[in-house]
Amino acid sequence: MKALPRKITDKGFRPDGRNWPLIVSFMIDCGGSTKSSTGTALAVEAARRGYRGLYLDLDANRSGSRVLGYDDTALEGRPTVADLVVGKATLDEVAVPARVRIGPGYKENAFETIPNLRLLPASRDLSGADTTIAVGSYGDWFVNLMHNYEGDDEVLWADFPAKYGKLPYSVARMMDESDALIPSVRADPKDLKLVPDLFTELEDIRAKNAGNRFVPGRPTVSHMVLTSTPTASYTEALPQRAIDLAENLYGHLLLPYVRYSAEAKKIYESDCPIEYLAPHSYPAEDYRKIVTALGFERRPAA
Ligand SMILES: Nc1ncnc2c1ncn2[C@@H]1O[C@H](COP(=O)(O)OP(=O)(O)OP(=O)(O)O)[C@@H](O)[C@H]1O
Ligand SMILES: [Mg+2]
Repeated sequence: MKALPRKITDKGFRPDGRNWPLIVSFMIDCGGSTKSSTGTALAVEAARRGYRGLYLDLDANRSGSRVLGYDDTALEGRPTVADLVVGKATLDEVAVPARVRIGPGYKENAFETIPNLRLLPASRDLSGADTTIAVGSYGDWFVNLMHNYEGDDEVLWADFPAKYGKLPYSVARMMDESDALIPSVRADPKDLKLVPDLFTELEDIRAKNAGNRFVPGRPTVSHMVLTSTPTASYTEALPQRAIDLAENLYGHLLLPYVRYSAEAKKIYESDCPIEYLAPHSYPAEDYRKIVTALGFERRPAA
């Protein structure tokens, strides 16, 4: 058996004594590669095991926000990450408790709260965030947010859009080698071929921030998640070829595989994380293995 990649909790939740939480991010410039499916699944399961989390949705497509209980109607009139970027709202004003729908409507009794998890919801306006950042000189918005952070969250889960640019850059530069940067890719050679671009992008970010004492500036691929892998009934040759390729190139980074399941496709139809939608499905089972492999052992109930 190959060795599992490192546990991200080994160095604690405040690496190097800093005041802001461990950052776990899902990044790769590849649309539909399963970043948000994996991000929401891991954040929800770690929260259920007792780890306080903050889910930062940076994508104008708002997938992560919807799966964690907030569609456009729910967010109407509420501040979002777009307001955080321009300093119009504070982190605690933007954060909402992650939740699952249990009935119709938008009153509080239509939802059950997911323990230990708050969401910083995205908005459609984030599609213009790169321009906003450039024109308004907001490049340090996340640096300032983290330096002024005073909360008690243990993990900040960051769901990136499928493109590199100023918004992802502004967040990734606050990551160190002890944080976790995880591309989540389908078992498809087409997706895997985009991984080298991610390494190049990160080298670029590290080079641009070298010597800057206000930012760690060392985002590093720490693990890789491979999803939609073969099962007894899902036996196409292409995913198996992708697995062979991934094991060859990135074997030391690979977390337990997330098997294919038609249930997983319904997370956006139902706007519900996999652990609540289909707790007995292959992906729910596999994501629990990943959460354990990353070091989030279940905490004893308080
Ligand atoms: N284990 C799985 N088996 C089958 N389908 C899956 C699995 N996991 C995720 N999917 C499906 O893959 C699709 C893309 O997933 P997701 O939205 O998480 O990707 P993404 O990388 O966040 O995309 P984007 O870049 O557009 O935000 C979704 O329809 C999702 O339901
Ligand atoms: Mg996404």
